[in-house]
Amino acid sequence: MPESAAAPLVDLAGVRLGLGAGAGRVEILRGIDLAVAAGESLGIVGPSGSGKSTLLMVIAGLERAEAGRVVVAGQDHAGLDEDGLARLRRDRIGIVFQSFHLIPTMTALENVAVPLELAGRADAFAEAAGWLDRVGLAARRDHYPSRLSGGEQQRVALARALVARPSLLLADEPTGNLDGAAGRAVADLLFGLNAELGTTLILVTHDPALAARCHRAVRVADGRLAAEPRP
Ligand SMILES: Nc1ncnc2c1ncn2[C@@H]1O[C@H](COP(=O)(O)OP(=O)(O)OP(=O)(O)O)[C@@H](O)[C@H]1O
Ligand SMILES: [Mg+2]
Repeated sequence: MPESAAAPLVDLAGVRLGLGAGAGRVEILRGIDLAVAAGESLGIVGPSGSGKSTLLMVIAGLERAEAGRVVVAGQDHAGLDEDGLARLRRDRIGIVFQSFHLIPTMTALENVAVPLELAGRADAFAEAAGWLDRVGLAARRDHYPSRLSGGEQQRVALARALVARPSLLLADEPTGNLDGAAGRAVADLLFGLNAELGTTLILVTHDPALAARCHRAVRVADGRLAAEPRP
């Protein structure tokens, strides 16, 4: 199906996924239906262990649904092999993982530059420096992740997710390690990109204030989604 203005950027129907084997198997996603329009911001809330991170991984194509349909930017994941999924991520999706996944042998600047270097961009380091500045870490450019606080690592991961200007940002607790002021600064950055560039945001969060700033929020409960009432 070609991408069109009317089609949602993210479209999930009847998505099911269990993880683990034998007696340890857990049915995590039990029929997820979710459509997110281009330019929308969506908060995902729900208790620990409910499947929020798993849902983001399915949207990113890092986990495959066992049943149902996952379409992102007009591309059905079922029709893509691992290389195709990797290309879709490279071209369209920025991901901030809950545990950051920074490369320990690279400085903050080198970590942020990775997506642009992979794309062969000559301006990779200049762009990366600009994004580190935007997340308030210009002074930490040459630090390795092990020399950064949890909140600083989180902001490096955010800069890396944004450096290639993705149309879709998937962020797992993007402010979870930040105090009030730093958390608000990151949220301002995200919602600013949403407003100015139309970056579609899908944010997993335990923070009701962050969820409330999204256009809408959904709650994961018993493997399904329910609309979260506005506070
Ligand atoms: N590889 C795996 N094998 C088996 N079970 C798994 C695996 N990965 C995750 N799970 C289980 O799936 C459930 C959902 O995990 P998930 O990480 O999606 O939760 P979450 O909503 O993101 O929680 P949190 O808010 O704590 O981050 C949990 O019960 C977890 O133990
Ligand atoms: Mg999680």
